[in-house]
Amino acid sequence: MDRPTHLFPDWGISFALQRLSSFAGGMSDMLSVRHHEFGAPSEVLRVESLPVPEPGPGEVRVKLLAATINPSDYGMIGGSYGSLRELPAVAGREGVGAVDALGEGVDSVQTGAHVRFPDGGTWQEYACMPAEDLLLVDASVPVEQAAVSFINPPTAFCLLDKIVDLKEGDWIVQNAGNSAVGLSVIQMAKAMGLKTISQVRREELVEPLLAYGADQVVLEGSAWPKKLKELTGGAPVKLALNSIGGESAIDQIKALGDGGTQVTFGGMVADKVRFPTRFLIFNDVRLVGFWWDKFCKTEGADAVLEVMDRVYTMMREGQLKLPIEATYALPQIQEAIQHDKSPKLGKVLLRP
Ligand SMILES: NC(=O)c1ccc[n+]([C@@H]2O[C@H](COP(=O)([O-])OP(=O)(O)OC[C@H]3O[C@@H](n4cnc5c(N)ncnc54)[C@H](OP(=O)(O)O)[C@@H]3O)[C@@H](O)[C@H]2O)c1
Repeated sequence: MDRPTHLFPDWGISFALQRLSSFAGGMSDMLSVRHHEFGAPSEVLRVESLPVPEPGPGEVRVKLLAATINPSDYGMIGGSYGSLRELPAVAGREGVGAVDALGEGVDSVQTGAHVRFPDGGTWQEYACMPAEDLLLVDASVPVEQAAVSFINPPTAFCLLDKIVDLKEGDWIVQNAGNSAVGLSVIQMAKAMGLKTISQVRREELVEPLLAYGADQVVLEGSAWPKKLKELTGGAPVKLALNSIGGESAIDQIKALGDGGTQVTFGGMVADKVRFPTRFLIFNDVRLVGFWWDKFCKTEGADAVLEVMDRVYTMMREGQLKLPIEATYALPQIQEAIQHDKSPKLGKVLLRP
C-alpha cells in the first residue's frame, strides 16, 4: 500500500530553514541520523548537520535517493547486532544512491549511476567510498525497489538456493510471511517452482499473501501443523525458514518431514528457541543458521554479484516486487520508526 510522503512536520521546517541559512552563508552541509551511544532509537538517535564529504583520489561521492528501515538497524543502534559501528555512528544499513561527484583518477563510473549507498550508515544525505567497491544497480530497477534490494531479497534467495537441495514441487514453511524476506521468499519460490506455507500473525494478511503467490497461509497459534496433510496433500516439508523463534519456530519443527532442515536467520521474539527433543531423535531434523553479512564476507564479491544478478533479473522480469508502506524525510526519523513498528505490509523508506 502506498501512502503519501510525509514532508515538513514542524521540526522539519526548522531544519529546512537552518539549512537555507547555512547555504546562504556559503557553507555546504547535510543531514545525518546519528547516535553517540547504544540504546533505544527513541532515546539515542539525533538528526545532525554535518559537512558534505569530498571524495578523495579513487573515491566517489554518493547522494542518497532512498534508504530502508530494517529490524537489524535496531540491533545496530541498540548494540546487540553481530557487527557494530564505532561511535558516533550514522544509522541505517540499506539504501540506494546516485554517484554525484568523482574523485581524482576515477573513470570507471559516471555521475548519475545508481549504486548501493556506502556501508558506513545509510540514514544520511551523502557519503564517499572507493569507486572499485561500488555495487551498481541495474538501471531498469525503480529507485524504491532498489532501496529494498540489498539485504532481504538476497537473503531470501540464499535461504532457498544454498541451504538444502530443493527440487521443483518441494514444500517449505516460513514465519513472518508478510516481512520483506517473507514476501521475497513467496515470490522467488513461485518463480523456482517451490511450494510455500507462510505463517502470519494477522488474519487480514491471508488474502494479500495469496495474491503475492503464497500456496498456503496459516495463522500463528492455530495448531496448523495438525492440518499439514491437508495443506500439502501429504507431501513432506523439506525446509523451514525461521526469523521469529518461540512457539512459531516449534510449530515449524513439528511440521518438518523426516530429515528436514530448519534455518534460523532472525529472532523477532527475544526468546531462546526451545527444541522439542523427540523431533531431533525420531525425525532427524537439522538446525542451521544463516547470516547474509557472513555470506558476503566468506563467499566474496563474485558470489554476491551472482546472487544480486538473480535478484535483479527477477525484479526486471516482474517476478519480484516488494510493497512500500510509506516514505518519510530524514528529519522525521522518529515518526518513521513508529510507523515501522506498527502492523504493516511493506517497508518504510527514508528520503533526503
Ligand atoms: N540473517 C540474515 O542475514 C538476515 C537478513 C535479512 C533479514 N533477517 C531477519 O529476517 C527477519 C525479517 O526481516 P525483514 O526486514 O524482512 O522484516 P520486516 O519486513 O521489517 O517485517 C518484520 C516481520 O516481523 C514480524 N514480527 C515483528 N515482531 C514480531 C514478534 N514479536 N513476533 C512475531 N512476529 C513479529 C512482523 O509481523 P507483524 O506484521 O505481524 O508485526 C513482520 O512479519 C528479521 O528477523 C531480520 O532480522 C536476517
